Amino acid sequence: MAIIIDGAAAAKNLRQKLAQEVAAEKLSPGLAVVLVGDDPASSVYVRNKSRAAEEAGLKSWTHRLPAGTSQAELLALIAKLNADDAVHGILVQLPVPDPIDPQAVIAAIDPEKDVDGFHPVNAGRLSLGLPGFVPCTPLGCMILLRSVWPDLSGKRALVIGRSNIVGKPMAQLLLQANCTVTVAHSRTQDIAGECARADIVIAAIGKPKFVRGEWIKEGAVAIDVGINRTDGKLVGDIDFETAKDRAYALTPVPGGVGPMTIACLLKNTVESARRKLSLLQKK
Ligand code: GUN
Repeated sequence: MAIIIDGAAAAKNLRQKLAQEVAAEKLSPGLAVVLVGDDPASSVYVRNKSRAAEEAGLKSWTHRLPAGTSQAELLALIAKLNADDAVHGILVQLPVPDPIDPQAVIAAIDPEKDVDGFHPVNAGRLSLGLPGFVPCTPLGCMILLRSVWPDLSGKRALVIGRSNIVGKPMAQLLLQANCTVTVAHSRTQDIAGECARADIVIAAIGKPKFVRGEWIKEGAVAIDVGINRTDGKLVGDIDFETAKDRAYALTPVPGGVGPMTIACLLKNTVESARRKLSLLQKK
């Protein structure tokens, strides 16, 4: 039976540590969350993000814009938040409704306030190994992975999924940690075969129970990024029941990566406030 990695507990620890740092360093981090439209799932995510921020001693503002908001109106709000010194982090919940271009929205955010780590400047910094904001979900996966294997050097890692939000930044982080990285996706010929060689499997494809337990190498660590609702139940991209008898350690869904994503958003926002303060002190 695998070690079940408790993401909820790890996230709680991280949030408490951040709350202590905010108090000890007299930081006043502010997070602005923008939601366009009334998608129910996005609404829940946004509420959870601002609640977690406030519990950790951050200020948070939620800007709810109607579904018919134009791109120009959204960009005007972002410009205002960019210029607001109380705001250290700006997050526009994705997806944004048509015809708003998500790339134009992401590019409009000041890279120094881009706590999602989605801006091309931060994506570029990550790929060059320079300091910048790292997307929250892959950052959370790395923390959970290191909680069971502090040294990842030389491990074979398989990332399944190539999204800009998870798969690509995840591959960069694993490479930086000296893993040998493979990225699999919908056109990969033999995903089961790739899995069989992997010491680390990160599943981020959005297909319920896609990764079978039999595919996983005995003793591997499996991190499940999937959140799929099937028959009113949340299930991951990995078939938990069969995987738990093969893996050395495994994250559950829910209670694995999900809570870490929010905690890492707070981590990035606190870091942004800290950088701002140290820049002001240097002046
Ligand atoms: N939609 C799904 N995941 C995310 C995320 O991490 N950040 C934002 N802004 N939107 C999302």
